[in-house]
Amino acid sequence: MNNLKTPLEKAIIELKNDGVVAIPTETVYGLAANAFRETAVKKIFELKKRPLNNPLIVHLYSVDGLEEIADEIPDAASKLARHFWPGPLTLVLKKKNVIPDIVSAGLETVAVRIPDHPYTLELLEKLSFPLAAPSANPFGSISPTNPEHVRTYFKDDIDFILDGGVCERGVESTIVAFDMKGQPVLLRHGSISLEEIESVVGDVKVSTHEEHKPQASGMLSRHYSPSTPSYMTENVKKAIEMFSGKQIGLLMFKHEVKNHNGIFQEVLSRSGDFSEAARNLYAAMHRLDKLNVDLLIFEELPDINLGTTINDKLSRAAKTRI
Ligand code: TXA
Ligand code: MG
Repeated sequence: MNNLKTPLEKAIIELKNDGVVAIPTETVYGLAANAFRETAVKKIFELKKRPLNNPLIVHLYSVDGLEEIADEIPDAASKLARHFWPGPLTLVLKKKNVIPDIVSAGLETVAVRIPDHPYTLELLEKLSFPLAAPSANPFGSISPTNPEHVRTYFKDDIDFILDGGVCERGVESTIVAFDMKGQPVLLRHGSISLEEIESVVGDVKVSTHEEHKPQASGMLSRHYSPSTPSYMTENVKKAIEMFSGKQIGLLMFKHEVKNHNGIFQEVLSRSGDFSEAARNLYAAMHRLDKLNVDLLIFEELPDINLGTTINDKLSRAAKTRI
């Protein structure tokens, strides 16, 4: 009988039974469970081997659900929500008690967003609870942007994968918190550039560094990491010379490096389009990591708009900047 059910129906059944389901979003795939159920959320931490002090994002169907979980919403937050939701913007707000401590890692705040993917929105609409979901990768490894990535990581360990194709944006949501005065603070660079955020609320402080507590996992200095040793550089040719004799994989922004036949190269966007580069970023990293070469070299992008976000991900994935 179960075979007659649609993928959406299967996902609903598992989630209602405190299961863990991989869900598509416009950014990356998430590993989702009922945000109101500690036992369900605990499974996510175990599957990811994620430290319990690292809080999760709660995904809502609509802004109507916000009052149930968050309090004291600053004007700037409402403005950003109106402008970007559904979409790749996560807001860190004062939490209400319905959110179990495990979701927020004991903090007084909760991270929340409305994802922009038709299947996941339909799923959220049909559920009577929001979904807590981190990215669907083991802690510290490259985020998944297609269902195959999720399958490779978790195989039969999760209850269901809702296949929603390739993620449109390709990098995580941008995270914004608010200071005591309600002024926005950027905690994680993401799919919406800092420039876009500032065009809505004016100047935004940036605090993506380790000294900021709590840490967004995407803020840890080493994260999104391939298992192959990786280096980030402005000067790819020089970096290749440094490692002569080694087998190298290259992650380039627009152009291949000429006259290097033996080197496997991924190009993020031949037209130099940041959005296309972001969409391709993690899949290219996954492919490079599978080559079993000695090392990977990432080319730094121009430090504006989504270039800043991509550079942030590259620098955390790389062992060293050279
Ligand atoms: O695009 C995304 O945001 C994806 C999709 C699935 O929605 N999710 C995602 O989740 O990237 P995750 O767990 O990989 O990253 C969420 C980040 C974590 O680094 C966490 O530390 C931060 O959000 N975070 C969660 N709650 C927080 C809070 N109350 N204060 C500050 N940071 C928080
Ligand atoms: Mg993550």
